[in-house]
Amino acid sequence: MRTQVVIIGSGPSGLLLGQLLHKHGIDNIIVERKDRDYILGRIRAGVLEQGLVAQMDEVGAAARLHKEGLIHGGIELLFGDVRHRIDLNAATGGKNVTVYGQTEVTYDLMEARLAAGLVTVYDADQVTPLDFAGDKPRVTYVKDGATHAIDCDFIAGCDGFHGISRRSVSAGGIQEFERVYPFGWLGVLSDTPPVSPELIYVRNERGFALCSMRSHTRSRYYVQCRLDEHVDDWSDDKFWDELRRRLDEEAADKLVTGPSIEKSIAPLRSFVAEPIRFGRLFLAGDAAHIVPPTGAKGLNLAASDVHYLSQALREFYVEKSPAGIDHYSTKALARIWKAERFSWWMTSMLHRFSDTDPFTARIQLAELNYVVESKAATASLSENYVGLPY
Ligand code: APR
Ligand code: PHB
Repeated sequence: MRTQVVIIGSGPSGLLLGQLLHKHGIDNIIVERKDRDYILGRIRAGVLEQGLVAQMDEVGAAARLHKEGLIHGGIELLFGDVRHRIDLNAATGGKNVTVYGQTEVTYDLMEARLAAGLVTVYDADQVTPLDFAGDKPRVTYVKDGATHAIDCDFIAGCDGFHGISRRSVSAGGIQEFERVYPFGWLGVLSDTPPVSPELIYVRNERGFALCSMRSHTRSRYYVQCRLDEHVDDWSDDKFWDELRRRLDEEAADKLVTGPSIEKSIAPLRSFVAEPIRFGRLFLAGDAAHIVPPTGAKGLNLAASDVHYLSQALREFYVEKSPAGIDHYSTKALARIWKAERFSWWMTSMLHRFSDTDPFTARIQLAELNYVVESKAATASLSENYVGLPY
């Protein structure tokens, strides 16, 4: 087989890239190790920056997003038992975010790819990017017991943090930056009405909490937990009691509880690989970086990587210029690090760290008071939360 670009991974990064390349007449094949149902079974965050919404519009996959997505012009910070609204809209000259599950984004992109008749190879084992140091790269994989090879011009590694693409780069050719946080998030999805119309980020002496949603009838809640805890340690009742204890009185009274339809614990880490271009192999999305979910940047950072990479490939094929692919890594990493900083800052400000560090607790409260009292600080949080320009 032959195509212009082989995309490894059928998550949001790979799917969005595939549609953008297709829109500009660039042939691509996605090779994915899991099947469609497995991918759609993953529960992930659900806050979309306008840049991602614009790209979904660009590839014609935004109809349901506009119909079902919830436009949010603000968030709330709850600390010291007081809720403070951050008016994102006012602080950013009218920008907002859209609340719409990542699973729905993935589904909509899968449907668009299917409608376009593009090739996705699911259940591909032993996917291996090869010869990407030269100008004739290829990708091999095993399916139904047979080994297949796809010759191509470029390989896009959109295979996530645990994928093969980054691991295929020689150790000396890549530098990794990482910070692992000493806590996790226990998340619950429930078919209950959200406790508040906007998201509430909570800093509480017992630990962080987040009240989010997927729709007016489906809520998503998180509480910070220890890394040695297991999801089986948390009955639904125990979760709801703990969440209530971290909320203000009004929210605790209004909280509608119900059976969890999904419950899981996720560790938090910051991670960046440098560079993210290796000859004819490019990394994008979680394959290149990980952010703690506190800033809602994971999916949105994947979208900006894909924006830069699709532009670069279009310049190569349409304008016959290598400038875009030569600058992809530098350009994408500049925005990646800004989102890493914001996600680290939100995480550092809102979570309970060591018990023996009262100084940090005071600094966190000072930071939060500064954010809600200073117009400049509110604007800084807001412009990062709605998404810095591409
Ligand atoms: N071969 C083929 N496919 C692979 C391989 C492999 N060796 N390893 C992983 N994959 C597939 C996974 O099965 C998955 O479908 O690559 C895809 C990667 O998707 P994601 O992990 O969702 O990463 P990405 O598309 O970059 O999306 C980033 O997802 O994890 C969240 O918080 C993250 O919101 C962010 C978004
Ligand atoms: C979510 O809805 O899952 C969500 C929202 C905002 C975050 C993290 C997760 O910062």
